[in-house]
Amino acid sequence: MLRLFRGSLIVTSQLGFISAAQVPCSATVSVKRLLTGVILCSQFLCQNTCVTMATATHSKALTSPYPNSKQERLKLKPEQVSWQTKWEEYNPPDFTADKVLVGPVWADPDDKKNAKEYKKIVWNKLDGKVNRQTYEKCKTYKVPEIDGRPSNPIGRTGLKGRGELGKWGPNHAADPIVTRWKRDAKGTIEQGKSGKKVLQFIAIQRKDNQEWAIPGGMVDAGEKVSVALKREFGEEAMNTLEATPQEKKKIKKAVDALFKVGHEVYRGYVDDPRNTDNSWMETIAVNFHDVEGASVGKFKLNAGDDAAGVKWMDISSEIKLYASHQHFIEEVTKRHEAHW
Ligand code: BGC
Repeated sequence: MLRLFRGSLIVTSQLGFISAAQVPCSATVSVKRLLTGVILCSQFLCQNTCVTMATATHSKALTSPYPNSKQERLKLKPEQVSWQTKWEEYNPPDFTADKVLVGPVWADPDDKKNAKEYKKIVWNKLDGKVNRQTYEKCKTYKVPEIDGRPSNPIGRTGLKGRGELGKWGPNHAADPIVTRWKRDAKGTIEQGKSGKKVLQFIAIQRKDNQEWAIPGGMVDAGEKVSVALKREFGEEAMNTLEATPQEKKKIKKAVDALFKVGHEVYRGYVDDPRNTDNSWMETIAVNFHDVEGASVGKFKLNAGDDAAGVKWMDISSEIKLYASHQHFIEEVTKRHEAHW
């Protein structure tokens, strides 16, 4: 048994990836193996790992109009975001997009149109195949009796309902960050202004808002995060759907090999413009580094189904990315001691 207190530790999660996680609370765990600086943890620790939040508050989740709609949010002052700030009259607009209300497979029952089914949802647990646990800090999110809806763990957003998100509470995504060193024509690794080596990552341009992003996506119900990471990467960046069978084989082999060793760089809430008071995005971001640039780096990048463009993007603090993706990329540069 080992008692862990505030501080950092490196754990392998149930995904098999190595994760650098912050443990802001104490947890009693049984540690199976102890390597130099690497703790291989028990299932208990993995399920209760606390992580640093990208944002103590959110800003993109406060922007109006809500994506793909004319829906305005109630304007909030920074001090009004926290649920700790008492605000009895708080009553923002209630908005769930029609595409969610019609009840596609990926969406939960509506609390008004289908109250009987809605009441069966099991919060903060694995609910059948749907993971309703938050990745945030050892904590559970609250489901106040007053409206029976889960509360965004970061705070108010100026909008009730689910917006475009299918699930009440956390909606889980997976973000594969595939990196290589930037090299010149001779193969020498290039240096940035800081004198540190420059990394590049595979970025996609989202079709919905033209913003550049990590080629991630939603984890399907019952799907392992490790599987979702690889599937999303294939669908969005490698365009496996349009490759010839021969190309597909080669791509699959290279991706399989690269995705064997990943380093988890982030796990938690995402400051996403689609978040509402009752539905929000969370993700696990994992870095797969192609050291020699010889595996996935060799393949032609084609935009897939959900992406408008795909490229190797130079990493620096100047890049502007979707949601909190810039924060995840910065974490990757720290890991590789690369230019930022
Ligand atoms: C995207 C992920 C992103 C998540 C949260 C998903 O739709 O595919 O890349 O991290 O939303 O913003």
